[in-house]
Amino acid sequence: MFPPLGSMEKMRGLPRPWWRRAKKANQHEPFSMPFYGVWEAVARLAAEIRTSDFMAEMTGRRDAYGSQGLMGSLDCATLYALTRWQRPAVVVESGGFIGMSSAFILKAFVDEGLTRAKLYSIEWSEECDQGALIPDELRSQFVPLRGKVEDFVQRDQLPASIDMFLHDSSHSYRHMLWEFREFWARLRDRGLLVSHDVHLNAAFPEFMAKTYAHDKKTGRLDAQRTSHYEWGRWGYIGFVIKKKKQTDSLSNSSLFDRGLRG
Ligand SMILES: C[S@@+](CC[C@H](N)C(=O)[O-])C[C@H]1O[C@@H](n2cnc3c(N)ncnc32)[C@H](O)[C@@H]1O
Repeated sequence: MFPPLGSMEKMRGLPRPWWRRAKKANQHEPFSMPFYGVWEAVARLAAEIRTSDFMAEMTGRRDAYGSQGLMGSLDCATLYALTRWQRPAVVVESGGFIGMSSAFILKAFVDEGLTRAKLYSIEWSEECDQGALIPDELRSQFVPLRGKVEDFVQRDQLPASIDMFLHDSSHSYRHMLWEFREFWARLRDRGLLVSHDVHLNAAFPEFMAKTYAHDKKTGRLDAQRTSHYEWGRWGYIGFVIKKKKQTDSLSNSSLFDRGLRG
């Protein structure tokens, strides 16, 4: 006689797919398990790009310009890998500058075959040649926006729903928290918030801490009310995958988002 399916899966050492887990599954099982794969994928894709001709070309361009203020190779590789893992259609980045980070996001679009994806890249300074480092063949999916992030938000000139947001503008504590809150509200379920330079102040860990919910009595993690699937930090890059409440029709008015708004 065959053993029941569940035990066969156990025998083979295969975890049950998350969507097949019974509702009554152990509530204390780590709920981020379905997203464990992000670590494997990001490690693999980042290693791939680090040894690529593209990385050599971009490093050469960066060094010719002078690397002051530009994203370093390790963080570019992580950003590239996260973008490929996420496969976004709409990406917004703040602090586009001359386009080191932009180039790696655009390269990830091409390598994933995301021909319709767009990168909206916001840069305030009139003095820099916005996106100058981006190779010509990657430019068709690049949408440069000149001005302050705050003004684009205030004038409602950015996509209402986005798949991925990268913060790399002003790294003051106040501004970082403001951007995280503002763009978190626009992210869809499973949307990705990425921040560069998370080591410069406590904005990212503080923002992250508010995405957790715990049972008041036991102190155990309450997966239902916790609003991220996975998060982490790699080099100077922080990332978090948003978990939107199923019942929410308006993310801005959800209890969680109100909590994050302080
Ligand atoms: C660290 S650099 C960005 C580097 C870029 N991501 C790269 O890898 O090439 C930060 C940029 O953010 C811009 N910036 C700062 N505050 C801003 C704001 N409020 N809105 C838009 N851009 C801003 C600065 O002008 C500067 O060029």
